[in-house]
Amino acid sequence: MEYIRSKDIYLLMRHILKLVHPRLMDHGSKVAYMVYMMLRERGRFEEFELADIVMLCTMHDIGAYMTEQGKISDMLRYESRDSMAHSIYGYLFFKYLSPVPDLAKVIMYHHMDYEQLKKVDYEYKQVAAYINIAEKMDLYSTSMGSQFDLYMFEKMAGTKLSSDGLELFYQVEGKYDIFEKIKSGEYKEELAKITEYMIFSNEDKKKFLEMLMYCLGFRSKNMVVDNITTVCVCEDIAEEMALPDAERETLYYSALIHDIGMLAIPQEIIDAPRKLETEEIRLLRTHVEIGKQVLENRMKPEVVNIAMAHHERCDGSGYPSRLKDIQMNTPQRILQVADVVTALVNPRSYRPDLPKEKVIAILNDEMEKHRLNRQVVRTFVKSYDRIMKRVRTESAEILKMYETLNMQYELVSKKYKI
Ligand SMILES: [Fe+2]
Ligand SMILES: [Fe+2]
Ligand SMILES: [Fe+2]
Repeated sequence: MEYIRSKDIYLLMRHILKLVHPRLMDHGSKVAYMVYMMLRERGRFEEFELADIVMLCTMHDIGAYMTEQGKISDMLRYESRDSMAHSIYGYLFFKYLSPVPDLAKVIMYHHMDYEQLKKVDYEYKQVAAYINIAEKMDLYSTSMGSQFDLYMFEKMAGTKLSSDGLELFYQVEGKYDIFEKIKSGEYKEELAKITEYMIFSNEDKKKFLEMLMYCLGFRSKNMVVDNITTVCVCEDIAEEMALPDAERETLYYSALIHDIGMLAIPQEIIDAPRKLETEEIRLLRTHVEIGKQVLENRMKPEVVNIAMAHHERCDGSGYPSRLKDIQMNTPQRILQVADVVTALVNPRSYRPDLPKEKVIAILNDEMEKHRLNRQVVRTFVKSYDRIMKRVRTESAEILKMYETLNMQYELVSKKYKI
C-alpha cells in the first residue's frame, strides 16, 4: 500500500487547516468550487490540471494563517483592504514549500486589480482573476445573506475585476445554481469528484506532507524546529540500529506528522512560559487523538500507529493508550526517544536548551525507570556527538528554506509597507 493516496493528500490538508480555522477553510473550498466551475465551463484545462488548481484554490488564503493570526476572523478586512500580506506570504509558502511552485503566483495575484493583472505576463493569471471574483462572491453572499445581489460587482467590471470573468460567473451561476449547491452542501460532492483526478508523484506527495509540517509554524515557529529535529534524530537512530529501509521510510513519515494535532491547540498553551494547569495539560494531550482522527484511513495504518504512540512510555505510564514496551515496535520506541531528545536539546518556552551531560542524565534516568526503551536510548547516547552533529547540520539545511521564506516576507513587507 502506498503511504497516502493523492486525493487523501488534499483531504488531509483541508482537514488539518480546518483545525486551525474552520471558516477560512470553508471559504477556500467554496472558492475552489466556483473557480473550478468557471474553468471547466471555459474548457481551457484538462481535468488533471484542474485538480492541481482546485488544490491551490482551496489553499489560496493559506498566508492568512500566518499573517493574520489572532485577527483571522476579520476576513472582510484582509480580503478587501489589507490583502497584500496574506497574498505575499501564501505565494512564498507555495513557491518555496509546495510541489507546485509554478502555480504560486496565482496566490500572489489573487487580489490584484484586473487593470494591472491583465498587463502581467503569467500563464495562470486567469485563475487569479477568477479567484478574485469567486472570493468576493463568497464573502459578500455569506455576510449579506438575502441582501446579496449577484450583480453588485458590476461597477468593478473591467477595472478591479475581469469583465469576462464576471460574465462567465453569471453564466455558470445561471446554468448550475452555484449558490444553491453551496447552500445545500452539494458542492462538496462535486469537489470530491475532481479529487479523483489528482495524481501526485511520490516525490510530490512527500513535498506536500513536508509542507504540512511547515504549517506547524502557524502555531509556533519553534514547533517547526522541533519537528525537524525529531525527524532527523529518528532517521539517525534508525540508521544506527540498521532498521530495514521500508521501516525507516515509515518512521520518517510518522515523525513528520506525529504532532500535526497540535495545530488544534491554542497558541497560549503551546508557548506558555510557565508550568501548565491540569486542565491545560489535558487539552494539550488531546493533540494525539486529534492527529489520529485526521490521519486515520488516509495515511498507511503503520504510519499512524507509530505517530500516535509518541507519548506512550514503555512502563505503561504514557498516553493516550498506556501501551507497554511489549506492545510496541522498534519505530515507535525510536520516535518516543526522539521526541524526548527534541524537548531536551531545543529550548522550551519555560527554559533554555540543556547541555549534553544533562540530556544524557535525563535519558538514562528515564531508561532506568523503564519509561524509554533501553536499546534505543543506548544507541542514541553511544553516538550522541555524531548524531547531534548530523541533526544540527541536516535540520539547519531544512530550516534554511523556511527562514528564507520568512526573510523574503520581511523584505517584501517592508517594500510594500505592510
Ligand atoms: Fe485572499
Ligand atoms: Fe479568499
Ligand atoms: Fe506530541
